[in-house]
Amino acid sequence: MTKVLIATVKPFAKVAVENISNILKGAGYELNILEKYSSKDELLKAVADVDALIIRSDKIDDTVMAAAPNLKIVVRAGAGYDNVDLEAASKRNIVVMNTPGQNSNAVAELIFGMLVYQVRNHFNGTPGTELKGKKLGIHAFGHVGKQVARIGKGFGMEIFAFDPFISNDIIEKNGVKAVDSVKEMYGTCDFVSLHIPATPQTIKSINYDLLSGMKEGATLINTARKEIIDEEGLLKLMNENESFHYISDIAPDKKSLFEDKFPERCFFTPKKMGAQTAEANINAGIAAANQIIDFLEKGVDTFKVN
Ligand code: 3PG
Repeated sequence: MTKVLIATVKPFAKVAVENISNILKGAGYELNILEKYSSKDELLKAVADVDALIIRSDKIDDTVMAAAPNLKIVVRAGAGYDNVDLEAASKRNIVVMNTPGQNSNAVAELIFGMLVYQVRNHFNGTPGTELKGKKLGIHAFGHVGKQVARIGKGFGMEIFAFDPFISNDIIEKNGVKAVDSVKEMYGTCDFVSLHIPATPQTIKSINYDLLSGMKEGATLINTARKEIIDEEGLLKLMNENESFHYISDIAPDKKSLFEDKFPERCFFTPKKMGAQTAEANINAGIAAANQIIDFLEKGVDTFKVN
């Protein structure tokens, strides 16, 4: 019998697991679940006889794959797959997929929750500012970026986007102003929201030089990855520029330093919350289950990333 394992340190909503379970059982597969595990050993034991794996930000390296001799497919239920060693997977003939777009609305909604909290001074009772009429820059116009644009328009914001991989036509068709350079966008906008993946090219690319070109009172919003920020450069900038704000769904390494030094100018969710909605879990979980079945039964590899 084909065995699938859901391995999630950060569990899906119960209803999402029920959905995944129904789909896989309907296909005649066996489903095992390993949630909130605290050691790699637990994961290594749990993968021993599985054919397929559904994960979130769980780290899947060569040792995990080596411990799973039957493993044929890993589906990262979500967008970013920087937690999976793609090279090792390819060497072992393991297909890796993601489920693009399935959790993008959840991430976009969180951005506006954090933004309102920030511009209203953490709800401390003093007069804040409004989002209406302000300029919002979207750094990379993928699935999440598009949702951010849609919601930002609802707030009456002027939306800009920079994405070297997406044509200006597509950006403009979404009612967004396409900007030709990253510097131009950072210099134009009151808020910049990051939607780039963590790759060798993007790691630490959001640096002092880029951020120092931002406007007086600007805010950087990070719901993407911690690694894309040059943390030392950001700290330097926030020390020098007393009007700069940083809000993030992924706490920086020096979280307490940021919070001690700039209590009103930064905010970090206690745990990465972007994709933590029942809807996002259901959408990504269902997609993952169906992609596994389609791949194992028919060889469909539409969302293969390796
Ligand atoms: C993603 O890449 O899909 C998001 O960062 C969500 O990650 P999570 O599933 O670990 O919450």
